[in-house]
Amino acid sequence: SPLPRMFQPLTIRGLTLKNRLAVSPMCMYSSTDGFATDFHLVHIGQFAMRGLGLVIMEATGVSPEGRITPNCLGIWQDAHIEKLQQIVRFVHANKAAAGIQLAHAGRKASTTAPWLMKTQGARADETSGGWPHQVVGPSALPFDDRAWMPHELSLDEIRRIQGDFARAAKRALLAGFDVIELHAAHGYLLHEFLSPISNKRTDEYGGSFDNRVRFLVETVRSVRAEWPEDRPLFVRLSVTDWVAPCDAVPGGGWTEEESVELASRLKSEGVDLVDCSTSGSSPLQQIPLSPGYQVRFAEDIRRQVKGMLTGAVGLITDAQQANDVLEQGRADMVFLGRVLLRDPNFALNAAASLGVFAQYPHQYERGR
Ligand code: FNR
Repeated sequence: SPLPRMFQPLTIRGLTLKNRLAVSPMCMYSSTDGFATDFHLVHIGQFAMRGLGLVIMEATGVSPEGRITPNCLGIWQDAHIEKLQQIVRFVHANKAAAGIQLAHAGRKASTTAPWLMKTQGARADETSGGWPHQVVGPSALPFDDRAWMPHELSLDEIRRIQGDFARAAKRALLAGFDVIELHAAHGYLLHEFLSPISNKRTDEYGGSFDNRVRFLVETVRSVRAEWPEDRPLFVRLSVTDWVAPCDAVPGGGWTEEESVELASRLKSEGVDLVDCSTSGSSPLQQIPLSPGYQVRFAEDIRRQVKGMLTGAVGLITDAQQANDVLEQGRADMVFLGRVLLRDPNFALNAAASLGVFAQYPHQYERGR
């Protein structure tokens, strides 16, 4: 019988992944001045040892102000490269591929790590290492009443940030990463330009669909120019804001239809895969949570945008469930988040449960 699709290799450009399971990017709030640490080596390394095909490092700031918290990972200076290189080497030695999610937090920047919110509050001010006066967004509109007031980016600043993404891509290449994922989801900067909820600009970066997608499309172009032809480029989208037209938001939020049109433009800009998440633009969002609740967005984009690969993510917690998503042609890859924090052996156990030989690291073979 053929291998379950989850464990079939997947070739994207010059990269062949040994299976279709990715570690979804997850912030670990464990850096100082953006530097990766031994924590990241162990954390990322464990997934490479435990059967995941692609391990994607967390949202990584392309500038210090682009971090979510003072403890987020960064890639805005050459000095960041060395530790990342060590992590990538370890991932490769364990026959997994390494990805990094490049990010700018926009108006959601300068907050505190989740476990500090209770004692320090949600906002990081100067005394806790934050940068309240350098928080930026498409428009001067805060996310909610606990977030900092962003200042509206000038055209020069927009170009500067696009350059930051390009320079970050260059460093990611020097560090040896196989995949870059741009974080254009969850209400961070790239998504803020897409969504009419956060983007009220009246220049060429706001208003019409063409204008709202311009910042992302140009950023993709500048990253693609630095990122070799043979390496895959992914984009994570919030396919919908989950905000229907209502009194507070008469026009509603960013929609699935817009994501499909955007994905087809991203395809022609050299994006290989859309990682289909949702939400994050507005506290008014209403998310119908259920197992695999975002899979249908990966399916829609995959069906409607010729040649675009998709990743499914969100409450995929079971081997059979994950494999079905792939077998049914609803997505090309499955991204796993929280289940891996509970069970780092998910991929090895999934292989066993689907009757596939699970390649343990030699050191662990007696545990099989
Ligand atoms: C996340 N998520 C996330 N998403 C992202 O695009 N960049 C990030 O850095 C993070 N950080 C992060 C940290 C932690 C601790 C969690 C739990 C989640 C979202 C994550 O990648 C994933 O999309 C969601 O968790 C939904 O998938 P699961 O967890 O249901 O498999």
